[in-house]
Amino acid sequence: MDIRILPSNIANMIAAGEVVQRPSSVVKELLENAVDAGADQVTVIIKDSGRTLIQVIDNGCGMSPDEAVLCFERHATSKISTAEDLQHIQTYGFRGEALASIAAVSEVTLKTRREEDQFGCQVDFADSKHLSTIEVSAPKGSSFSVRNIFYNVPARRKFLKSDNVEFKHILEEFTRVALTRPEIGFTLVHNGKDVHVLRKAKSLKFRIQDLLGRSTADKVVELSASTSVVNLSGYICRPDEAKKTVSQQFFFVNGRYFRSPYMHKAVMKAYEDMIADGAVPSYFIYMDIDPDSIDVNISPTKTEIKFEDDSVVFQILYAAVRESLGKNSFSTGLEFDLSDAPELPTFGKNYQSYRPEVIPPSGSFDPSYNPFETQSGKSAGYSGGSHSFDGFKNGEPDFGGSFPKMSDTPSKGYPDFGSFSGKEKEDYGKLFEDRTLPSTDVVILQGKYIVTPVKSGLMLVNIRRAWERILYERFLSAISANAPVTRVTMFPVEISVGPENRLVFEEHLEYLAGLGFDISPKDMDKIVVNGVPEGFSCDDRSVEALMADVLIAITDTGTATLAGMMESAMAEKFARMGAARGEKITSAHDARKLIDTLFGCSNSEYTSSGQKILSMISVQEIDGKF
Ligand SMILES: Nc1ncnc2c1ncn2[C@@H]1O[C@H](COP(=O)(O)OP(=O)(O)OP(=O)(O)O)[C@@H](O)[C@H]1O
Ligand SMILES: [Mg+2]
Repeated sequence: MDIRILPSNIANMIAAGEVVQRPSSVVKELLENAVDAGADQVTVIIKDSGRTLIQVIDNGCGMSPDEAVLCFERHATSKISTAEDLQHIQTYGFRGEALASIAAVSEVTLKTRREEDQFGCQVDFADSKHLSTIEVSAPKGSSFSVRNIFYNVPARRKFLKSDNVEFKHILEEFTRVALTRPEIGFTLVHNGKDVHVLRKAKSLKFRIQDLLGRSTADKVVELSASTSVVNLSGYICRPDEAKKTVSQQFFFVNGRYFRSPYMHKAVMKAYEDMIADGAVPSYFIYMDIDPDSIDVNISPTKTEIKFEDDSVVFQILYAAVRESLGKNSFSTGLEFDLSDAPELPTFGKNYQSYRPEVIPPSGSFDPSYNPFETQSGKSAGYSGGSHSFDGFKNGEPDFGGSFPKMSDTPSKGYPDFGSFSGKEKEDYGKLFEDRTLPSTDVVILQGKYIVTPVKSGLMLVNIRRAWERILYERFLSAISANAPVTRVTMFPVEISVGPENRLVFEEHLEYLAGLGFDISPKDMDKIVVNGVPEGFSCDDRSVEALMADVLIAITDTGTATLAGMMESAMAEKFARMGAARGEKITSAHDARKLIDTLFGCSNSEYTSSGQKILSMISVQEIDGKF
């Protein structure tokens, strides 16, 4: 064997694989360096989701011409110098890896000037090689331009995802850093357009509002706890605002973002019984902890943190979230008794040897309380607007209340009738004969059922389920046969959905148009809804909730493309969504029309998930009552 030392540019390129996984990794590293440099204004300029250009400009301390070259060397760092320092890291950076890695896989230009220097310098690097240094005039601070990422690693460049996906990652990194430093102004520009202009903020709440919109800021309550192990602060979402996918979760420790399924569990446990199945609350939780008791260096991207005693932190976090939810008692169904609110646990200095049992707040609350359950004519939903489901035409009581959750029944496509009981099968046959309806005799019961006499007795139609079947067949043919669903134009409603969700809608515009949704993106973070599928009853108060559901339906599939998803499962989702908001049936005319349409379906007896739509009360059964 012939062992040799790899040339440094190849070694750097291999190492870069860990640090620089995609354009967003570069954004993260450059942003962190800017913050470490003491900047109070940072601008990020992106072209083509980072493929063409990633530029980060700061007004921090800058570098001398020598440092400006040295900083691209592997293990070049000004942030630590002894092993001891590694224990008390106060900065984002400490490895001296980031710039070396970036310079190994892209073309980099750095322009920088320190306050005390009259002139600045421009340094060019590519393929880990120093190409040139020239004197330039430059403002105080640094500007890194990273061009053509992975130009020399074609395999990596090829594996970059769509522009929208890559930009979503960039937004995520930007958001994480922006949330740790409200006092720094941040701007994000993509392809010449401002995506975020975040003013220097006095408080975190302002930053959340600037970054994620007023609606998010209005839906959170404060979290705070101080113990000798860890201090907690931040904001958590009100339980009734917890959403299924349109939410964001952030943990920070000592000003650094980290992910932790384990700590997430502590939060979710505290919300238990207060939120709908599958809903995840947004939270912004900041931990302050003795740096000696955590290790941030366990993953190359530093997003995983090892806590010395994570079970204690878990308990404290759980208790604190519980307490905050208790203090901010949200509805009559959720009464916390504050008089005996517990003390948060406190530990002595020597907490390592201490495994206290942490007692969660003992306020009394109704565990069966579900904020999503219908209360008098109102169905609580995902987002701000009320869901009265008033149609364009009328305003009868809605029938969305008992609507099953999407997760209740697995997507099955057409039902397997073999699994129904003999009795139901009997009904099924009978109803076929009774399809010719008398023309006038229909009664609408509480907006939920249509009752009509047929040859053998009375037929009952479950209106919501009828809608579900009708919409299912419409959507299925729209999806599989490319026969667009008729759309009802409405007065345009503008909804602030945030930049990430706006991208999701933009990606699926055509698909949604085929289903009858007329949506156009607006600015960087809004959509305008101009039309919805026929049969969807929707006014501007409920359209926001509808869009939240649409978003859930299209993002449920993860990153898989919709085309790859089972058409029937998708049709079923949209049908349920539509049925929950189906138009009101108030007149005999509407009722008959609904029944006619239902009987025009390939199967009018059961919904696609196998629930009965029709039921019979025979004359004999009526006889039996007398
Ligand atoms: N925007 C900046 N302004 C001033 N100095 C900078 C800037 N960016 C980098 N530097 C200097 O270059 C050095 C190398 O940066 P680099 O990001 O490669 O390593 P690091 O931040 O020390 O550690 P890590 O690899 O963990 O990020 C830094 O330690 C710092 O001294
Ligand atoms: Mg760094």
